[in-house]
Amino acid sequence: MFAARFEKTGPAQDVFILDQVDTPEPSEGQVRVKINLSGVNPTDYKGRSGVVPRTFDGFQIPHNDGSGVIDAVGAGVDSQRIGERVWIMLAANGNRFGTAAEYCVVDSQLARPLPDSASFELGATLGVPAVTAAYCLFSDGPIAGQTVLVHGGAGAVGRVAIELAVWAGARVIATVSSESKAQTASDAGAQIVVNYTDSDAIAQLSGHGISRVIEVNLAANLELDLAISQPGMKIVCYAADGPDPVLPRRALMTACATLEFMLLYNVESDKLRESVSMVEEALAQGALTMPPHKLLPLSQIAAAHDLVEAGSAQRVLLQV
Ligand SMILES: NC(=O)c1ccc[n+]([C@@H]2O[C@H](COP(=O)([O-])OP(=O)(O)OC[C@H]3O[C@@H](n4cnc5c(N)ncnc54)[C@H](OP(=O)(O)O)[C@@H]3O)[C@@H](O)[C@H]2O)c1
Repeated sequence: MFAARFEKTGPAQDVFILDQVDTPEPSEGQVRVKINLSGVNPTDYKGRSGVVPRTFDGFQIPHNDGSGVIDAVGAGVDSQRIGERVWIMLAANGNRFGTAAEYCVVDSQLARPLPDSASFELGATLGVPAVTAAYCLFSDGPIAGQTVLVHGGAGAVGRVAIELAVWAGARVIATVSSESKAQTASDAGAQIVVNYTDSDAIAQLSGHGISRVIEVNLAANLELDLAISQPGMKIVCYAADGPDPVLPRRALMTACATLEFMLLYNVESDKLRESVSMVEEALAQGALTMPPHKLLPLSQIAAAHDLVEAGSAQRVLLQV
């Protein structure tokens, strides 16, 4: 099969090898998916560049997310799954056959049914961002009636967090840094969108009774989060770009705030299942929509990684 792989980490333009590798066979409990689209996320360029060290077995075909059709199953998997449209999550987690190839093999439960109402494009955007967003929103149970602040509401995680929170009955406030990103967050369902670079951002975000913050940059936003907090507010952090924050214990105590951190690769399996099922329910009910995106051929994977690494405001998908 044709695949993009790397055998050492480094800059995208240097390390990708595009050629044929043996088509993998599904092992026990696995399915093989004929890939339609492969989704690129920040975690993929971090693993490829080596900035977040990860081990791999000889070579790594990157990308956790994708969509396609199951064409073979391993022992113990219902053969009725052959022909099923699926969206894929966590494909490259401890597995060298990620989605940047004609075929990938993954554990059967990581290939999720894609309803006929959902396009392959939408399916390839779900994985890491949607499941992360669902975990951050729902890790303490239902959020109906709550007011949730989603920082970075035009980002991959942020935008789908808005859609999921609105679907779950919450009122959503989002922050962004530009007018075009404000439009994206507002189109996703945010009722109030604030440019966090505005000098009066704190005033704009105050007094709304925010009980949950979905935080993309704790170091930059902690002061703001505390300034708008009410007792019991929880800040759920899913990103670690930039410097580590200094924790102001007294201010956090005074605010009676809770900090939670999560990494999708390591969350407890029952919480992961719950998060996936929330994504699936929302998807089945048509609550998740296609984000602004750019399609590139698989052969342009290095350019795709460079775009995501540069902070593209569009989701980047590779056509296989
Ligand atoms: N823990 C996990 O399991 C997990 C899962 C998914 C993603 N992540 C990580 O989360 C981060 C974001 O991922 P992503 O895919 O959503 O990336 P993305 O699509 O690039 O979105 C990031 C968004 O954050 C915004 N942003 C940056 N600084 C901000 C600030 N101080 N306040 C408000 N918004 C801010 C950016 O827009 P502006 O710069 O224009 O504001 C951008 O819209 C990455 O570091 C990724 O590796 C972690």
